[in-house]
Amino acid sequence: MRETITYGDVLLLPQYSTIESRTEVDLTQNLDKNITLEIPIISSPMDTITETRMAVAMGAAGGVGILHRYKEMMKEAELAFHCHDQGVTNIGAAIGVTGDYMFRAEALVNIGKANILCLDVAHGHHILMERALKSLKDKFGDTVHLMAGNVATLEGFNDLADWGADSIRCNIGGGSICTTRIQTGHGVSGLETILQCAKSDRDAKIIADGGLKNSGDIVKALAAGADFVMLGSLLSGTDETPGEVITFTDGSKRKAYRGMASRKAQEAWRGKSSAPEGVATTVHYKGSVANILNDLVGGIKSGCSYSGARNLFELRTKAQWTRQSGASMTESAAHILGRG
Ligand code: IMP
Repeated sequence: MRETITYGDVLLLPQYSTIESRTEVDLTQNLDKNITLEIPIISSPMDTITETRMAVAMGAAGGVGILHRYKEMMKEAELAFHCHDQGVTNIGAAIGVTGDYMFRAEALVNIGKANILCLDVAHGHHILMERALKSLKDKFGDTVHLMAGNVATLEGFNDLADWGADSIRCNIGGGSICTTRIQTGHGVSGLETILQCAKSDRDAKIIADGGLKNSGDIVKALAAGADFVMLGSLLSGTDETPGEVITFTDGSKRKAYRGMASRKAQEAWRGKSSAPEGVATTVHYKGSVANILNDLVGGIKSGCSYSGARNLFELRTKAQWTRQSGASMTESAAHILGRG
């Protein structure tokens, strides 16, 4: 049995750096030959994370947002089109792999002008994914970017790439609101998944999805081989997420954040719930997502500088890892706070 590691288990070794300012670090990444992002950040297709406002803000920051799929088909296509109204070039929209997924894909591409379709299912290494990816590739060729997932193994990654995926969401069970590993006993530690998928010889891009708690985790994911990260909780609670700010009697402000397979989300979109694999909660209200993204990008660039890397390719090739103990993990966080 293989021992697996995740973000908290390791640190990157600081290395000689010639970078004098964070402005010298370039985070530009190609999603495919037609789509270039200025920052390697994608917002999750979740109903408490990405609708129009988040997609617009993500586009403005140089990343991309993926509209969630739990809306009536034409409504999702309309939301995608609105994004265009507001000057967004790259529009991502999620679809399923059964039922009306082909009609939805056509509506999103033809009416919504989406150029990224995200085949969004919990267990992507699956015959239904195979059929859907092959049909969508047949239909759209290389005119639409196909993002697919999620997978947790190199075999899964390679299969989805062979079936037509241009980018693949990697990680099963690591999301902050996820209970998949508890409910089903399945999954692989987040960083281990990236290290394994990075061994692939396929061209599909690696998206480290879920379980990223801070910019340090993002730097580790990118150093381990991810081309992009997908974020839910780090973007949650911001103005641009769907839903109202809830003000509590003590004056504190919060917003809802929930797993798409949580009981609450299932009931809201399907009218019933079975075998939930996520939880619903509220998080502190955080204001504008632009400030959050700015801090994350600053942290990623500083991380590159600590590795002496001017871009993400250099970060990946130069990365040297150390394993940290439990005591080191405690030392790694601000540790005066609990001391009284
Ligand atoms: P976070 O950034 O750690 O909050 O994780 C967000 C990711 O969790 C999403 O991009 C999905 O891959 C995943 N996810 C979303 N909803 C659920 C759920 O209900 N159960 C399991 N995973 C989920």
